[in-house]
Amino acid sequence: MTEPTYLRDTRDGYDKISADYAERFPTMLVDGPLGRAMLTAFAESVQAAGGGPVVEVGSGAGRVTGYLDSLGVRVSGVDLSPAMVALARRNHPELRFEEGSMTALDLPDGSLAGLVAWYSVIHVPPELHPGVFAEFHRVVAPDGHLLVGFQVGDEPLSFTEAFGHTVSLDFHRLSPDRVSDALEKAGFTVEARLVREPSGDEKVPQAYLMARRRA
Ligand SMILES: C[S@@+](CC[C@H](N)C(=O)[O-])C[C@H]1O[C@@H](n2cnc3c(N)ncnc32)[C@H](O)[C@@H]1O
Repeated sequence: MTEPTYLRDTRDGYDKISADYAERFPTMLVDGPLGRAMLTAFAESVQAAGGGPVVEVGSGAGRVTGYLDSLGVRVSGVDLSPAMVALARRNHPELRFEEGSMTALDLPDGSLAGLVAWYSVIHVPPELHPGVFAEFHRVVAPDGHLLVGFQVGDEPLSFTEAFGHTVSLDFHRLSPDRVSDALEKAGFTVEARLVREPSGDEKVPQAYLMARRRA
């Protein structure tokens, strides 16, 4: 089957910018205290259910995967971009990172205690989110946990240039209500949502949704 253009463009874009990304954000702290609070709450919920396995989809350079590992979660990462996977492996040689797409995960049904998508579903066109959330539902075990982070808004950001490279990278800002509805329809119960105001260089609010797969 031919790969959709948006996946090819996203992979090519991150492959091109990975080295600059690593240089610019060498030891980037994971978001602010509220983002970290949601990751900590997620980690505690997973620990109450045995501590893993958890997969971060769209793990990038591995900062969130590494943060969850530091909280005692058994976690690995999956990313579309081979260059980002290589970077994550270099940053966290103790953790496992694989190439793959959240649209078709190479994981058995019901095999995860939890899944995190932290600023990665933003690269999937919103009309395709039902299919991606169905895939999350397939791989997460009944009662398992899900955490999704994204920028809030209606207008996508499209970049044709990044760090001096020609790219075609779309960042879809999303509506917390619409993402919640899509998660509910896919078989998750949204248990908590946090929307915070922009801080630092951010232009728009940021949202974190925590959900649980219905049994
Ligand atoms: C903005 S970065 C976020 C990385 C990481 N979650 C973090 O917060 O540091 C988005 C990442 O998602 C990955 N990505 C985009 N679409 C993906 C897909 N369909 N499947 C897996 N990874 C994807 C990109 O390659 C990129 O590394």
